[in-house]
Amino acid sequence: MYNFEYQNPVKIIFGKGEISKVGMNIPEGSKILLTYGGGSIFSNGVYNQVKASIKDFEVLEFGGIEPNPHYETLMKAVEVVKKENITFLLAVGGGSVIDGTKFIAAAALFKKGDPWQILAKNALVEDAIPIGSVLTLPATGSEMNSGSVVTRIETTEKLAFMSPKVMPMFSILDPEVIFSLPDKQVANGIVDAFVHVIEQYLTFPVNSPIQDRFAESILTTLIEEGPKVLVNRNDYDAAANLMWSATLALNGLIGVGVPQDWATHMIGHELTAYHGIDHARTLAIVLPGVMHIKREQKKDKILQLGERVWGITKGTTDERIDLTIQKTVEFFESVGIPTRLPDYGVTTETIDTICNRFRKRGYKVGEKANIGPVEMRLILEDRL
Ligand code: NZQ
Ligand code: ZN
Repeated sequence: MYNFEYQNPVKIIFGKGEISKVGMNIPEGSKILLTYGGGSIFSNGVYNQVKASIKDFEVLEFGGIEPNPHYETLMKAVEVVKKENITFLLAVGGGSVIDGTKFIAAAALFKKGDPWQILAKNALVEDAIPIGSVLTLPATGSEMNSGSVVTRIETTEKLAFMSPKVMPMFSILDPEVIFSLPDKQVANGIVDAFVHVIEQYLTFPVNSPIQDRFAESILTTLIEEGPKVLVNRNDYDAAANLMWSATLALNGLIGVGVPQDWATHMIGHELTAYHGIDHARTLAIVLPGVMHIKREQKKDKILQLGERVWGITKGTTDERIDLTIQKTVEFFESVGIPTRLPDYGVTTETIDTICNRFRKRGYKVGEKANIGPVEMRLILEDRL
């Protein structure tokens, strides 16, 4: 195992009815900006629960944060925060609302010029307004991590930043929020969490059996519990297991001490930027290609995944790798997510555009930083 430092300060408040604890976790005297998305919180009762809990605070609201939150929208919230002297941001929503709120928190206190530099140039986030979150969609892990992904419409860019300063002070995870999720978002959540684990697991062995088994247990739980939620949205126990699995998949714990890949995400973000495809769906498209093209480099871990998660023990190495890829694809498709580019109307033209963009950016991705434009083309052409 590699050396590492790990600190996760996010307080998790988990379970049925726990949204009532929002107010008691916000510093007294705070002036709150409640941020939310397109309005799902009004129809499923989450908004009313939150408002009842923070009735003693001065609260302003900022709604309309889009899925794949737009920089242009978030900068409007930054103006509100500055003008109104907001001292606490309360994000109520899925990954997009939480990510967007993290950017607002950092941008509002950014003193070194244009806040876009936080995303475009990895400018250091020295300070941020404190955040709390009420999660309504298990998927991204944003509720317990330092990451945020923002889309700039003007330039068709989807970029990420990470900073410990934007980790929420607390996040409330009430699995009952899942009851109102459409099938599509449940499936997206299962697949996003699944691929988060894969990005931190399917690399090369560094003698870290504890990390491997954490990862495999999350994958197995997603495979077992995810479909139960799809079949019966009111299955509280399955919802609870799905929700906690998604958080554990990307709260930093399973990624410490081991190599990490993230090529699937980096390529996937481009598919969202150019075609607006849901984040998780882009991952379901790209991952099988990464597994195939990097089958030699990832051989040991693909075989381990096949054996421990999919029960594949027979056949030659190549046959076992092929079957592991096939089982993974079948799982994504079984929850209703197509896995090939033509399923989404994406053609070779987009492959050219993405490869050119990475050629200009000049960096390579993957656990060995050896996936550049040439390998990306192979990965994406494998998905035609
Ligand atoms: O906007 P509203 O009306 O709330 O509706 C949302 C949205 O349309 C709806 N929804 C959320 N909770 C609901 C609900 N509908 C009914 N009932 C509920 N309880 O679901 C739709 C999708 O929401 P969104 O927040 O966009 O989904 P998700 O949580 O999957 O977030 C995706 C974003 O997170 C980023 C992605 O790139 C994408 O922009 N990611 C963030 C990461 C991180 N911070 O660590 C890592 C991930 O890899 C990912 O990149
Ligand atoms: Zn993801």
